[in-house]
Amino acid sequence: MTRPRLIDLKTVHHQTGIISIAEKGSEVPFEINRVYFLHGLSKGSERGSHAHRSLEQVMIAASGAFRVKLIGLDWEEDFQLNDPCVGLYIPPFAWRELSEFSRNSVCLVLASRVYEESDYIRSFEDFNVLRGPQS
Ligand code: TYD
Repeated sequence: MTRPRLIDLKTVHHQTGIISIAEKGSEVPFEINRVYFLHGLSKGSERGSHAHRSLEQVMIAASGAFRVKLIGLDWEEDFQLNDPCVGLYIPPFAWRELSEFSRNSVCLVLASRVYEESDYIRSFEDFNVLRGPQS
């Protein structure tokens, strides 16, 4: 089962700032069909609480910081994203909980598919059934 991993984005440093680049093939292991970003997040907000059947994503803390807790079918991992030069690859079948958003944080997501509600697993009970008995 594919696991999440951190990906160093290509960065171009300039005297007046930095360009972070996520390109299909080198940094992003899928064709990008959708880009969305979470912003205007209120203090203490929590997002996610779902998994996807097919969707692959790369998540980037384009600004600020937040926590991404991931639960897979046979693994669990916790990430603190706080570097706009790093992306988090999230494979299919990863239950995600996003929390601890810093002020003015922006969570940028590159996604392999367009939005399809049927790709979501929104009940942790249903997701847990797929995980089977945990030892
Ligand atoms: P959801 O993916 O559950 O949000 P989050 O993971 O950020 O908590 O989506 C929230 C709502 O926004 C839901 O009603 C579906 C809608 N939505 C779209 O219409 N298109 C999209 O690309 C996304 C990500 C969400």
